[in-house]
Amino acid sequence: VSQTLDALTRAVPPETILTDPAARAALATDESKIPGDCLAVVRPVTEAQVVAVLRASAEHGFSIVPRGAGTAATGAAVSRADQVVLDLSAMNRILEIDRRDLVAVVEPGVLTGALQAAVEEQGLFYPPDPASSAISTIGGNVATCAGGLRALKYGVTRDYVLGIRAALADGSVVDLGGRNLKSVVGYDLVRLLVGSEGTLAVFLRLVLRLIPRPAAFETVLASFETVEGGLLAADALLAAGLLPRALEYLDRDVLAVVAPALGEKLGDRVQSRLLVELDGSETAVREDAGRALEVLGKAGAIEARRARTAVERDELWLARRSVSKTVRTLAPAKKSEDLGVPRSRLAEAIAAIKAAGRAEGIRVLAYGHAGDANLHVNFLYDPASPQQRAGLERAIAAARKEALARGGTISGEHGVGLLKREAMRDEVGPRALDLMRGVKRAFDPDDRLNPGKALPPHETDGD
Ligand code: MLT
Ligand code: ZN
Repeated sequence: VSQTLDALTRAVPPETILTDPAARAALATDESKIPGDCLAVVRPVTEAQVVAVLRASAEHGFSIVPRGAGTAATGAAVSRADQVVLDLSAMNRILEIDRRDLVAVVEPGVLTGALQAAVEEQGLFYPPDPASSAISTIGGNVATCAGGLRALKYGVTRDYVLGIRAALADGSVVDLGGRNLKSVVGYDLVRLLVGSEGTLAVFLRLVLRLIPRPAAFETVLASFETVEGGLLAADALLAAGLLPRALEYLDRDVLAVVAPALGEKLGDRVQSRLLVELDGSETAVREDAGRALEVLGKAGAIEARRARTAVERDELWLARRSVSKTVRTLAPAKKSEDLGVPRSRLAEAIAAIKAAGRAEGIRVLAYGHAGDANLHVNFLYDPASPQQRAGLERAIAAARKEALARGGTISGEHGVGLLKREAMRDEVGPRALDLMRGVKRAFDPDDRLNPGKALPPHETDGD
């Protein structure tokens, strides 16, 4: 312990090292709420300090857990008592917004919402928009390839990362990619680092792709009498040739939770709702919103309308963004899965997953990104009840199985972290896992960067 602390003290200024128990506990966990601990937290402010910590780790053999704001849902940012947390949240400068190259160059600790606001002020747009954008960092978004609300039209974080300056496990620094929208020289190491959950390298700066900001956007809200009504209406919008930037589904249980925040009394008939956001030029958006209302009506909406004011629109989106936190108040504990399936299989997958939950006596809520068929199924349970705990595990296993049986994925956007390591074996075959382990070894032969995350433990591999 003291050897590691001594090494850190020699490597970086004392004010960047936090050792008090409260800070250590707070920065040793993430949204998974898996409790963690750590030897110390280092909060660097310069690239040189990050490099110095990595060199100390190489020399003294301690391992490092990089983190942004700790909004990871999977335990990717949970550390152990013998590890050093590398908190990058203070490296939060926007270094450059280049309107002609259409790129932003940023440090990893910039809040995604702050970046979005800064580029929008200049008439530009950074489309990826995780529900957590106000509180999550861009480095964390890149480390987990965050998806979010606008993936259907604009893609996910990986589609906007053009270049990465990264510090490797031995303390060397590499500049990968650059400012080119097109570049096909060599293996795509940029894309490999995106979603690598801090296991391959530590980000020092990111070159992000921007696009011109759409001139206008409009939110449309539609309610349905059946659980699958909202999902089928999403299909109908796409079939009609519309491509909303967000297409969010909320089932009745979730609506009941958010209704009070909206000052709304939920009518008995409403079983699901679709929140649609369109963007483009003023005229295109007006026209598309009209079309959308028509299509939603034909698809059986019992109510379909535009958000009346900008305030109402903001409230609706804030309520949607808060669902993950609000749902926590419904039960002593929840587990949040983020399954994805091919679009055509979404409604049946949700029905099967809810049935599996019911069979185990576990309440299952569903909401999320209907446009890209990445749904958040939340399992509510009481950890004090052994029966509920066992039922929960079976219900989650069944849900993952239902997704995979339909050609889906066990994680559309939250990642593997600690929580999905075993389950990923059912999605990624042994040969592909070997390749992934080879990649890990190539970047981090001594397993000092976020060890034990993102890959299944080796012992039980069965190969
Ligand atoms: C969301 O879309 O609200 C989040 O990805 C959900 C979550 O954190 O469970
Ligand atoms: Zn989400």
